[in-house]
This record gives sequence, structure tokens and C-alpha cells, in this order.
Amino acid sequence: MCGITGYVGDGDCSAIVTKSLKNLEYRGYDSAGIALLDDVLHIHKQSGQIDDLTVPSIPNASCGIGHTRWSTHGAPTDANAHPHSDCTEQVAVVHNGIIDNYETFKQELRDSHTFTSETDTEVIAHLIEDELKNGVQLRDAVENVVSMLSGSFAIAVTAVGFDGIIAARQDSPLVIGHAADATFLGSDVTAFIEHTQTVTFLEDGDIAHIKADSVTIANGDEHVEREKQTVEWNADAAEKGGYDHYMRKEIHEQPHAVRQALSGRINELSGTVDLDLDLSEEYCKSIDEIQIIACGTSYYAGLYAAELLEQHADIRVSVHIASEYEFRANRDPWRTLVIAVTQSGETADTLRALRKADGAGARTIAVTNTVGSTMAREANDTVYIRSGPEIGVAATKTFASQVITLTLLTVYLGRQRNSLASSQASTILKELSAVPGAIQQVLDAESTVRETAEEFANSDAFFFIGRRYGHPVSLEGALKLKEISYDHAEGFAGGELKHGPLALVTENTPVLAILTEGTNAEDTLHNVKEVESRGAPVIGVTSEIDPNPVFDITFRVPEVGLMEPVVANVYLQLFAYHVADQKDRSIDKPRNLAKSVTVE
Ligand code: F6R
Repeated sequence: MCGITGYVGDGDCSAIVTKSLKNLEYRGYDSAGIALLDDVLHIHKQSGQIDDLTVPSIPNASCGIGHTRWSTHGAPTDANAHPHSDCTEQVAVVHNGIIDNYETFKQELRDSHTFTSETDTEVIAHLIEDELKNGVQLRDAVENVVSMLSGSFAIAVTAVGFDGIIAARQDSPLVIGHAADATFLGSDVTAFIEHTQTVTFLEDGDIAHIKADSVTIANGDEHVEREKQTVEWNADAAEKGGYDHYMRKEIHEQPHAVRQALSGRINELSGTVDLDLDLSEEYCKSIDEIQIIACGTSYYAGLYAAELLEQHADIRVSVHIASEYEFRANRDPWRTLVIAVTQSGETADTLRALRKADGAGARTIAVTNTVGSTMAREANDTVYIRSGPEIGVAATKTFASQVITLTLLTVYLGRQRNSLASSQASTILKELSAVPGAIQQVLDAESTVRETAEEFANSDAFFFIGRRYGHPVSLEGALKLKEISYDHAEGFAGGELKHGPLALVTENTPVLAILTEGTNAEDTLHNVKEVESRGAPVIGVTSEIDPNPVFDITFRVPEVGLMEPVVANVYLQLFAYHVADQKDRSIDKPRNLAKSVTVE
């Protein structure tokens, strides 16, 4: 996820801003850059590592802004790295988030301005340039421009002849650090924690003017005073934003990740979705079969999508473990759409399967988190899940973002094929919009999950059951637990228990059962009774069933229709995390596993 830093003071701006970028490295990035201001702007930026970015010391520099970029609009190239400047090189801008309406401005500005990047950010620099040309002061110029933008973003701007930095926040975090002789800016306190623990968090709509010895903040027409707070973290803890592990941090980032996946893509009123895909109605109607290829957690997201696509887009779907995939000769490549689901975009098994499909002449789409990855480049089309970087080896937020993005793709295809009415599509999109809030409710209940995990941590094995949309989630719940706790865990379709696995069930094998919308909960209840009568404790993850007589422990899932199983999965992630934490496992780097599996 992108990171912003800023510094105003008499120190060595170059060294201080570079170090604060290093502090933000943990967020993940693919390019970095810095702008330093003395009489002119000195901008240094490039794709790749911060260590490779050479920023000379500028002795008279009075301030600097820096950025780590995680690509969303445009590949990770030098030109697309931030800061971005205007045509006159008087303004430098860094930006986190997504500007939904940037294309409109880009069209309008194209004739009178020269664009040097593919980013949404660059329009901000050119819009500010126009304001300054009209005699507007930088602070007001930023305010005017921000009022024109839609989306979620945080920006920092400086300009030749200006004293300090202007920062603006809209749904993307920014924090100011107050030191004795300097002022800092960061996407989080990690950026400057070694200099000060006294901070002010900006709120949505805030525009702050940051100088070395003062900060003034306005929100709309009002001047506002924001409280100064003392951060209790030391530099070590702050590295992971205050969380003990990246995995827990990433579990908690899911409401934001889902919002990013939806941002600018849905119109609830008309029931339409814009994924920047150029698939004609004729082509969509001609598809006979979708083949989904993926591995591990991404495979389970694919199983979830298959249910959605069959139900709402009226398409036959087959889901393939990528390493097992063959494009069968009896399938018509012209009528087969192959979707590779892959967080990293680099998984060797999935890449090989994608190449097989491509070689057979099928049209391919990559659904991935990683801009510029091999599969994003090789597939005919790409849809980004926009999770931000995931550093913990166990996939968490990317599963949620994959399912959300694949749901958008389902609505898109369903509408193109006339198999999904606009009213049904609107309902699905409304449910999607409610997912971030529902996940937050689950996260707020974490202490109950932790207590439950501690109670059952020493069990012989763990079983997860669910039907329909609950089945891939039960598989994913078991995978998460086994990979980070090293315990035996298995997921089953509820109906399969009696065909074998029931022999494993004892008083010391807790069963986590998913009973929500879309999971045939009443049928799963029979399976709950089967395991209860063998003495197994049952943890019900449910929005549907009156918990009292049935479950030993209940995790309540807020009602969000067919997205409930994805929300239920957040309980399973937290459960796995706390079981593993109880056992002091290496949660972020489980033994024998790697984040990006680039070998077959
Ligand atoms: C499990 C996990 C893996 C990945 C799998 C595919 O927590 O992370 O199962 O899902 O290796 O990786 P991607 O999605 O990068 O293709």
C-alpha cells in the first residue's frame, strides 16, 4: 500500500525523508520518490527499492515530501513513481488512494497540459498548476482541487516559493508529528516515530498547512483544532503499525481493502459495474464455459466465484487446481473464458495453466493484486483486486478482495448476458457495499474469538464444515489454521461427513460450522447434530440459526446476503491467528512456506 512522508525543518531534508520512506517500507511498494524544496524543486524517483534511490543532500532545502508507491493506475515505472509535477515544475504532489474521476480531468486537461505518467495522481498537479496561474494561493488551490475530486485519497503538496507542505485527507490516513524544531507528516506514525511520539491525526476533509513551527488545519470553511496525542509505541512496534504480526494487521485491513476493491466500480442504482473490461455483449453471450485456474486460497476464492457465476450469470463454470489443469481438446477455445485468480500474479502453477489456455486459443483474464506481474501482462485482460500489499505468508485480506472482485465480475457478466436483472444486481451491489461495515463488526468481536482459540488450542484436530458458499470458506478456514498453527485441520462439505470423516470426530476435535445465507444452513444443522452426538464441541459461525440450544460457542455474522460467508471467514482467520499465537508459532513466516510460489 502506498505511503506518504513529509518533513519541514532545518535538518538534512534528504536524509530525513529517505529514512522515513525506509520506515514505511513494511507497507510494501514497487517504486519510491522524494521532492526536496529550496529555490527550486528537486525530484528524484524511480521504480524498485528505496536503497537504490540516490537523493543528494540539498543544504538549503526547507522541506521535503516522499512516497512509496504500490501501483494501481499504471505499471511500476520510473515515470509513474511519485512525486508528480506540473508542466512548469513548480508543484510536487504525492498521493495515496484512488481518484475515481481522474479520467474526466485528464481528457479536459490533455490539450493544454503535458502528461508524463499514466497515473491518476498527475491530474492533481496540473489542476493545481491552473489554480496557481489564476493567482490562487497554494493552500486554497489544493482545497479547490480536492473539492473537485472523488474517491478515497490522501495527498501532500509543496511548491516553489511556498513555506511548508499542504496535506489533505479524504478517507485515507494522514498523521502529523510534532517535534521541537520540525514537523513531520506520514501515512502512519511509523514514518517519523524515532523523532516524535506527539501526533495529530487528520480527519476526513481536513486541509493542513504544515510549517516547521506550526500547523494550521481547516475543514470546509472552519478553522479546526485537532487534539495532540501521545503515541505509546516504540519504533519496533510501529513497524507493523502497532500489530504483533503482519497477518493480524492484514486481517484488520479488510474493511479498507474491500472498499478499495469497490471504489469507483459500482453503480447501485442502475445495478451496473465498471471493471475497465472491454468484453462486448456479443462475446459475453457467446461464452459456453468459464474455467477458473488457481492455487491454494485463490482456488477457494475461485470455488466461491463458481457458485456466484452459475447462480447469477447463468454460465457453466469449472474450477481447476492450476497444477492439474489441461485445456481439453473437446472444449471450444472461442467459447471458453479462462480466469486466473492469483494474488501475486506470479505463481508458477497458475502461470503454466494460463499459458496452456492461451496456447489453446482461449481468452484469458487475470484477477490479481499485483500491477505489472507476469500474469497481469500475459492475460488478455486484467482486473485488479486492489488489496494493497500482503506481507504475511498466509493470504487473508486478498481472499476477501478476490471474492469481492469476482462478485463484481459476476455482476458484469450477468448484466452483459441479460441473465441478471438490474434489480437483482442492485441488491448484490448493496450487499457488497455493506461488507466493510460487517467485517468491522467481526473485528470488533476479536476478544471472544481469542478466548475461544485459547480454550481449544490444544485439541487433537479441527474440522470446518459448510455447504455451498460455506464449503470453500470451510476449506479456507482449515487451510489457514493448518498453515500457521501446524495443527491438523480439514474442511468438508457438511453432507460428506457421514461418508467417512465422521470417523475422526471425537470430544477433542472442535468443529467450526458455517451457517449463513447461501450455505443451506438448515441442512448443515443436521451435520452439527451428527458431530455433537459424537461429543465434539461446535463453534457456530452464523447469521441464521438461533444459537442457544445448538452451539457451544457462537460467532455472530452480520446479515449481508451472499457475502455472509466471506464475512464469516474473518472469524476463521482470527481463530487461526489466535490458536497459532497461543502456540507461539512463526505466524508471518510459517515453516516450509513462501509468499510467492514461483516454482512448479
Ligand atoms: C495460503 C496462501 C496460498 C496462496 C497460493 C496461491 O494462505 O497464501 O495458498 O493462495 O500459493 O498464490 P497466488 O494467489 O499468489 O497465486
